[in-house]
Amino acid sequence: MKLTVIGTGYVGLCQGAAFAEEGHNVTCVDIVERKIKMLNDFCAGLSEELPLFEPGLPELIRNNSAKDRIQFTTDLKGSIENSDAVFITVGTPPKENGEADLTALKKVSEDIGSAINDSKKDYFIVATKSTVPAGTHKIVKEIISSRTNKQVDIVSNPEFLAQGRAVKDCLNPSRIVIGTDSEKARRIMLDIYKPYHEQGIPIYLMSNVDAELHKYAANSYLAAQISLTNNFANLAKAAGGDWNKVKEGIVADTRIGKFVHSSPGFGGSCFEKDVEQLTHTFEQYDVDCTLLKEVLRQNKLQKQLLAKRIKNHLGSLDGKTIAVWGLAFKAGTDDMRGAPSVPLIEGLIEAGAKVKAYDPVAVNESKKVFSNFEKRDMICYTEDKYSALDGSDALAIVTEWEEFIGADLGIVKNKLKSPIIFDGKDLFKPEEIMRHGFYYSCIGKPDIRDQ
Ligand code: UGA
Repeated sequence: MKLTVIGTGYVGLCQGAAFAEEGHNVTCVDIVERKIKMLNDFCAGLSEELPLFEPGLPELIRNNSAKDRIQFTTDLKGSIENSDAVFITVGTPPKENGEADLTALKKVSEDIGSAINDSKKDYFIVATKSTVPAGTHKIVKEIISSRTNKQVDIVSNPEFLAQGRAVKDCLNPSRIVIGTDSEKARRIMLDIYKPYHEQGIPIYLMSNVDAELHKYAANSYLAAQISLTNNFANLAKAAGGDWNKVKEGIVADTRIGKFVHSSPGFGGSCFEKDVEQLTHTFEQYDVDCTLLKEVLRQNKLQKQLLAKRIKNHLGSLDGKTIAVWGLAFKAGTDDMRGAPSVPLIEGLIEAGAKVKAYDPVAVNESKKVFSNFEKRDMICYTEDKYSALDGSDALAIVTEWEEFIGADLGIVKNKLKSPIIFDGKDLFKPEEIMRHGFYYSCIGKPDIRDQ
């Protein structure tokens, strides 16, 4: 089938390429000419660069472009004319007050309305993949209908991809949610997702508003589970227990399941944004949402924890240098939105320290993130992980990159001024740490003080 995907961010590019891989003919549209040029140059073999870093995406785009199943354009009108369905995948970032900013979504809806009106066809499906507050489908419908009298069905079709594994998630999602009251649109959407259903991926049919809520509810469950986990991990450490041991039994209860790794807080562009946006929807309907607000408050505190612990342990940070391994909010991405590395680095520097930071892919992003930070000169970046340790008083780890897990602790010990590791991601085995003799502090278990 022929599909148009509007917006070439993580969702649009990964889902667009996945649709192509499933055999559809996909046109990805963006108003930013620079991005479309970059994508076309990539497909023509003129460049190796894509607008974003995501494992597996270059291969997927290259293969499908070679088979003429994916193309990139700024021409929304031309693309819609030839499409069986139009997917909106633009961002819905938070406004200053945390509400969802629907500016891009509304603008795209206007453009779609005009394009539909000028088209020769008389029936259209517009599916929203962007994460949008309950009831947004009505806004999209109203805007489109203000520009055309043609029949348009709006489908709410959220995605569940996680960055760093977005391609896998788009090719093999845990489920597909199709929210619409139109029988005709439902049939066409089921045809689009037929290749997925044939692989055994479940499809859930529901109303638009249920699908919109489904996405926020899923992210809120996951975010709440992480905040609760970190609460318990902090308690375990304070009480002399070990969260990893507690957790072993907890995960045996499949109802509780995953997302129970202790951490320096959850980051990324989704959990914080979505939970916060959802609290506005709760308030709009006058329903109490203290629990969700607490999830966010807990996470904010968690992100400040490592800097506090380092200060407590080293006494004053004046004149000290701390090596930081990991800038990205998690492994597999260069995205630093909401990354725990940011409050950590700021906290260390505000307390008088210098920071030597290393990340395999997020250094450029970090320079942008800290560009307005007054004391950004206190951060220096190193080309490899071991150089960050030269002359440093301690090492703090906040991203679970494979290359950190495989680090040679002998080298780490030799390079650090004193053998001190604060490991927010719990990457090393206690035996290894003890064998080398480190002071080793994780989020949710007793410190190892074998120096
Ligand atoms: C999240 C959801 O997992 C996706 O299902 C959803 O589609 C996406 O948001 C979205 O709304 O677009 P993402 O933010 O990319 O995906 O990353 P996750 O893998 O969920 O990790 C989020 C944060 O939670 C990371 O900082 C991670 O380190 C942290 N985390 C995760 C923990 O602290 N503990 C855990 O047990 C798991």
